[in-house]
Amino acid sequence: MSLIKDSTVALITGASSNLGFNIAVRLLEQLPQDKDITLIVTSRTLPKAKDSINDIKKFITEKLPQKRGQVEFDYLLVDFTDMVSVLSAYYELSKRYKHLDYFFVNAAQGVYSGIDWVAATVEVFKNPVEAVTSPTYKLQQVGRKSGDGLGLVFQANVFGPYYLIHKLKPLLSNGGKIIWISSLMSQPKYLSFNDLQLVKSPASYEGSKRLVDLLHYGTYKSLKQNYGIESYVVHPGIFTSFSFFQYLNFFTYYGMLVLFYMARWLGSPYHNIEGYIAANAPVAAALGRVKQNEKVGSATTASGKEYLLVEDTIDTTGSSDVVKYLESLAEEWDDKFKDQIVNSRQ
Ligand SMILES: NC(=O)c1ccc[n+]([C@@H]2O[C@H](COP(=O)([O-])OP(=O)(O)OC[C@H]3O[C@@H](n4cnc5c(N)ncnc54)[C@H](OP(=O)(O)O)[C@@H]3O)[C@@H](O)[C@H]2O)c1
Repeated sequence: MSLIKDSTVALITGASSNLGFNIAVRLLEQLPQDKDITLIVTSRTLPKAKDSINDIKKFITEKLPQKRGQVEFDYLLVDFTDMVSVLSAYYELSKRYKHLDYFFVNAAQGVYSGIDWVAATVEVFKNPVEAVTSPTYKLQQVGRKSGDGLGLVFQANVFGPYYLIHKLKPLLSNGGKIIWISSLMSQPKYLSFNDLQLVKSPASYEGSKRLVDLLHYGTYKSLKQNYGIESYVVHPGIFTSFSFFQYLNFFTYYGMLVLFYMARWLGSPYHNIEGYIAANAPVAAALGRVKQNEKVGSATTASGKEYLLVEDTIDTTGSSDVVKYLESLAEEWDDKFKDQIVNSRQ
């Protein structure tokens, strides 16, 4: 149980990311003043979990001093590409908490091998706005599997979080909210129904985000009806990501930023650039300003004024197939974990 009684409990996966940090701070800014808050950050490593907490504490000291004493921190080490780690996260959370108010599914990864610089240059010259809106020059590895034998990106971005939520339904029931972070890039063309684990796909990251959309649309009504859980799907637009820095040098990083600003000035509503603006839609969804049947994105005007943009109707074809597939895979893992429980005293 949370150490602070009656506090609002929010879990943010991948809180060390630019978006994760900004979801945390925006949530602290916008939750009612009189509410105590427990923030649970997740990371795969202890140093990053500690850094996330320290960064948020620093923000509170500098920008939200009125919140000091009202925020309790907790962390959870979880790697979504490792089912034992996901199951341990569930055990830990159910030992420590009776209820979860918010679950932000923010952690995600791609398996990038670099950038096709020739294709990138051609794209930038042909259509600079498109080149930094729907880039096709980020090279992704094909066929990567996790140690559990599942498609790596599928497990990291879809099945791992899905399985944790599946186990945590009792804690989320009666008012808990799930906020799935999707992407602008989640077009139907990136997902083949013959390859739901995305192992043959050269665009597994985008395919995983399409799965997130379909998963949300295939489950939000039954989650509400059967458990009183509200599910939302949002996207953060485009912003600077810490994880992609490794592929850029000083010149390409600033080159990318110039193109981002150019795209924004030329009318792209999605070039939020800052993580703070990108976190607008996720927090708006959590605080009830978004409809469950709409995919809402964080957007900005040319001058950097944020707003929420409802995406055109999402094509939900195949959502029930995706849900069926995930449900049966979850049952398979429930069984595997049951078989692994042995009586060591015999
Ligand atoms: N950047 C963009 O323009 C953009 C656009 C559309 C959507 N998004 C989405 O926005 C979210 C945040 O993006 P970002 O660019 O800020 O993130 P990021 O810098 O790529 O960081 C991702 C976070 O996810 C965690 N993570 C990665 N793999 C994991 C795994 N296997 N298990 C557990 N945690 C894992 C990492 O935590 P640790 O390293 O601490 O473990 C990290 O904090 C993601 O869902 C992303 O897909 C981003």
